[in-house]
Amino acid sequence: MTTETLQQDDLASLAKLRVKDFLQHFQMVKQGAESKIYKGNFLGKPTIVKERFPKAYRHSALDKKLSHRRTAQEVRSILRCRKAGIATPVVYFVDYNASCIYLEDLVGALTVRDYIASVQKSKQDTGTLFPLAERIGQILAKMHDEDVIHGDLTTSNMMIRQPEKELRLVLIDFGLSFISALPEDKGVDLYVLEKAFLSSHPNTESVFKVFLNSYSNTSKKSAPVIKKLDVVRQRGRKRSMVG
Ligand SMILES: Nc1ncnc2c1ncn2[C@@H]1O[C@H](COP(=O)(O)OP(=O)(O)O)[C@@H](O)[C@H]1O
Ligand SMILES: [Mg+2]
Repeated sequence: MTTETLQQDDLASLAKLRVKDFLQHFQMVKQGAESKIYKGNFLGKPTIVKERFPKAYRHSALDKKLSHRRTAQEVRSILRCRKAGIATPVVYFVDYNASCIYLEDLVGALTVRDYIASVQKSKQDTGTLFPLAERIGQILAKMHDEDVIHGDLTTSNMMIRQPEKELRLVLIDFGLSFISALPEDKGVDLYVLEKAFLSSHPNTESVFKVFLNSYSNTSKKSAPVIKKLDVVRQRGRKRSMVG
């Protein structure tokens, strides 16, 4: 069969086969519900490959569309953040056919989730976490001022580089992100983080307060966002009372 007679779908399958060959040199290090994470070398650089694999439970055309959209959103928001000076991994290469993003491997970094867990495990004072909360507030305020809504704010989607020195925070996992200037979308983003934060890390209400204060002091548009956060919280409370 010549290339001319190949259909678009065949080309995509061929590309996937080639990617599979290529990824053989990479090591799978994580598998989530939506994606697989591989580590390896790409053009001589330590690289993470995030592959959105096909989901059998989804109709294949819909699955392809969703994977493509999330890959595109992830790349778009990473670039938008980087332009605004918000640290995110460098995008080395995007393979839309195979829904793979090749990203800078943040070697030696750990997730904020693991960092907080280790601080809590070693029974350090909760106040130890305030500088980190302050920094997260500044960065998310900057991100929202750029109208980037992350869509999946959790402490697993933030990484710390060299935690022993200055706090260098890097945001990751923008697959559910979108662009919006609406205070409601930003408020929901913060609400998702609040829920994730307090359920992942017990007794951190004071840490989250430091975060919110820092967010409010940094963002030029925080007042209506915090108002919306309160509305969403109330809605959440009512729902949990009914449920
Ligand atoms: N650029 C990166 N450098 C180092 N580790 C990463 C990088 N990107 C992701 N990871 C690791 O892989 C995990 C999953 O990646 P993520 O982008 O959050 O995908 P998922 O959608 O599966 O949550 C992260 O929590 C982090 O531990
Ligand atoms: Mg994630």
